[in-house]
Amino acid sequence: MSHVSVALDGPSGAGKSTLARMAAKHFGFVYVDTGALYRCIGLFMLRNGVGTEDAPAVESKLKDIHVELSYDSDGVQRMILNGEDVSEAIREPRVSMAASAVSAIPQVRAFLLETQRDMARRYDVVMDGRDIGTVVLPEAQVKIFLTASATERARRRYRELVDKGMDVSFEATLRDIEARDKNDSTRDIAPLRPAEDSVVIDTTEYGLEDSFEFICKAVERKLQGNRDSE
Ligand code: DC
Repeated sequence: MSHVSVALDGPSGAGKSTLARMAAKHFGFVYVDTGALYRCIGLFMLRNGVGTEDAPAVESKLKDIHVELSYDSDGVQRMILNGEDVSEAIREPRVSMAASAVSAIPQVRAFLLETQRDMARRYDVVMDGRDIGTVVLPEAQVKIFLTASATERARRRYRELVDKGMDVSFEATLRDIEARDKNDSTRDIAPLRPAEDSVVIDTTEYGLEDSFEFICKAVERKLQGNRDSE
């Protein structure tokens, strides 16, 4: 039997990572956070003084980058950039914008594509991102598009950053979310949009528990279908 892939796409702050982690744990699948890959590229460019909007400069640096996904004993994904664990460094707000900027560059997307597909070939996965159901894993058996209002998403992100001890304001967090939404959904390549065969869940209306239940039911239906056809 081939591996099961659950694609979980949507804008930042819609609850993707929390729900993807919960669902992966529930089914014993591997959780793949693809945004972390783009964040590594963004971080590398920031550290090396490369303008993240300067596509030719970014492209010329890709050959110096090696990114790896690794998992600790609790199954938590760690990001290794040229041998260094950057899992914490990539969470800084400045890296969010850098990741969004570099993600609009086609060569960056192509550079990261195989790493993502390789994970789905090797494991049952819940993969979260922006273009998983549309581009990375168009054959994913379950496709979910999670969304929520920008204000609600900013509220969640703000709480998360404050809890991590970061010095941010709500207004700046909202501006950041709105700017990233615009970047991510208007870019020419692999823009953020629901796959035609995805199920859209608005987490402003449905809380975490309801959304989780919904995702679990969708995956269980698929797994049952696989068993029936064996
Ligand atoms: O999910 P995140 O906030 O960590 O993602 C950071 C940025 O990376 C986001 O603004 C858009 C980009 N991204 C993408 O273009 N495609 C993906 N599959 C995942 C993230």
